[in-house]
Amino acid sequence: MNSRAAEASSESVDRPSKSPAEIARIYDEEASLVERLGPIDRFLTGRYRRLTFSRASGRVLDVACGTGANFPYLPADVELTGVDLSEEMLAAASRRAAKLDLDADLRVMDASDLDFPDDSFDAVISSLSTCTFPDPGAVLREMARVCEPDGRILLLEHGRSSAGPVARFQDWRAEAHFERMGCRWNQEPTAVVREAGLAVRRVRRGALGILTAMEVDPAGEGEPSG
Ligand SMILES: C[S@@+](CC[C@H](N)C(=O)[O-])C[C@H]1O[C@@H](n2cnc3c(N)ncnc32)[C@H](O)[C@@H]1O
Repeated sequence: MNSRAAEASSESVDRPSKSPAEIARIYDEEASLVERLGPIDRFLTGRYRRLTFSRASGRVLDVACGTGANFPYLPADVELTGVDLSEEMLAAASRRAAKLDLDADLRVMDASDLDFPDDSFDAVISSLSTCTFPDPGAVLREMARVCEPDGRILLLEHGRSSAGPVARFQDWRAEAHFERMGCRWNQEPTAVVREAGLAVRRVRRGALGILTAMEVDPAGEGEPSG
């Protein structure tokens, strides 16, 4: 772990959080709905997933891969590993990988304690996930640890909209949404990364500011940007 990340790991940030067991239960229960809503997800986020994840190459780890919504947007020749807390989400991911004829290594694993040696991957990707991680800082630092220092951490996150009425709706429903899905949907994704002690290299926003695509420096040496 680099020194900025180590310093940040000792700081605690006050945010609502469910336990890993609660998150696994929620997503086991929601997996079939999430799978059925796949076409809507593709319509809303497909373009952003393609822009973000088509830049991954080599050995790729999809952290909290869920039903494998990123798989169609990865280059065909990647060596893919996916982890998630939810067995049911991973079962859907496995069906998707089979349909795409992808040979993916999918494992139930808590991303805050990844069972991979340092520098195991050329790219670590994750989408719509830091909002549900019980300890996002720990997961982000694990992503940096298992990524080659000259590799890529590519994230597509959702957060508080830049459009006033949408943001106010998110604020109004934040608690109810968190209770149901364990998801902090009005967070600021770049702040979560910086609080983990990692540097954001590039940021692109879309969908009324709800989606944020970021490249994060695995070695923590990038120039923070807004
Ligand atoms: C909103 S879903 C996003 C899934 C997928 N990445 C996508 O873009 O559709 C959040 C996922 O994060 C997983 N998750 C949350 N905390 C996790 C953790 N600590 N380790 C592994 N997976 C986790 C959940 O099980 C769930 O599948």
